[in-house]
Amino acid sequence: MLRPWSDAVSATSAVLNELRRWPDVEAPGLVAVDAADRLILDESAGARASAQSGDVVVIGDAYGALTIGAAFAGATGVRVHIDALNGERALAANAERTGLSDNYRALPLEADLVRGARIVLLRLPRSLDGLRDIAGLIAAHADPAVVVIAGGRLKHMSLSMNTILSEFFGKLDITHARQKSRVLLAREPHNGRDPEPAAARVEGLEVRAFGGVFAGAHLDIGTRLLLDTLPEHLEGGTANDPLIDLACGTGIVGAWLATRHPNFHVYACDQSATAVKSARATMTANGIDARVEVWQDDALTTRASASASLIALNPPFHSGAAMTDLLAPRLFADAARVLRPGGQLWCVWNSSLNYRRQLERIVGPTQQVARNAKFTVTVSTRR
Ligand SMILES: C[S@@+](CC[C@H](N)C(=O)[O-])C[C@H]1O[C@@H](n2cnc3c(N)ncnc32)[C@H](O)[C@@H]1O
Repeated sequence: MLRPWSDAVSATSAVLNELRRWPDVEAPGLVAVDAADRLILDESAGARASAQSGDVVVIGDAYGALTIGAAFAGATGVRVHIDALNGERALAANAERTGLSDNYRALPLEADLVRGARIVLLRLPRSLDGLRDIAGLIAAHADPAVVVIAGGRLKHMSLSMNTILSEFFGKLDITHARQKSRVLLAREPHNGRDPEPAAARVEGLEVRAFGGVFAGAHLDIGTRLLLDTLPEHLEGGTANDPLIDLACGTGIVGAWLATRHPNFHVYACDQSATAVKSARATMTANGIDARVEVWQDDALTTRASASASLIALNPPFHSGAAMTDLLAPRLFADAARVLRPGGQLWCVWNSSLNYRRQLERIVGPTQQVARNAKFTVTVSTRR
């Protein structure tokens, strides 16, 4: 006969097995739950057993495994921050399917997320600057007795993560690895601070970058090629037909367009909350926030069809930690929907990805306008 604890473990495991990545891309090899999620849940089970409502905070959950796992085991009032909009939406869909929607609420990466928290389940971010922002925030606002159970896949972890956690926590314990995953346990918070964006002047622009945003406060070499290639004369730029910086990161492309075209309106969007926060700070630092709107969006979901004359795009190739070429075609398809006939998609891509055929098929006639050792810039005209 099964003992009660093993019943609970296998019931949790069964619930986790049902989780999906939708509405993010789904494909063989792209999982919704992995061994690191399961290890974080197992290592935190003891602490969670005596938790009161509101004690548990989850940060960096990919598609909801940590939140659903904790809620299924009884946690209520769970506060959750997921950077990617599609991750947050996947958690909502997974919670609805499992009947756990009322056990959590999603919050931005700000003080209220972690205020008074006693148990933080943290999926370690890929970016060390991102980890520094998260660890500083927890140390500044969580309960002094907080324990942070931070885990990841060994291949994405480095000793620098221990160093960063040690900047904000007096005690750091490291668990044994299991299934190529490991957990770090951080206690005794100190020297907390709220996240501040890195600031740099790049190509005459002020750039602001919160930890984890693509390229930080720098100009990516692919983005540079795109900026060098964009023409002087551009169609659109009105309030109803703004120039669009799709997948904007720090907003460097949108800021570049807005400063070179001082009467034009620009719309920038990204599915990452950190990117949106960074891009808004970039626009404010350049004094162009009145003409540049920045929103969190999945592709251009909130823009009307056939409404835009120009979209600039440096597409993503990571879904969480996984590299995939499934993301860019989704963005091409939405750009094609939003462009008016004759409108243009300017796109830079890693030449090895060979996106030209897809751009031709999805958007319309596509010309190469620049190419260097690594990147290609194309302009595709909407049929
Ligand atoms: C290669 S970076 C480009 C950032 C910026 N445009 C630049 O050139 O520095 C790709 C960006 O795509 C964003 N992204 C990924 N999936 C997205 C989606 N479904 N909708 C909107 N943005 C997305 C990422 O968060 C990331 O900021």
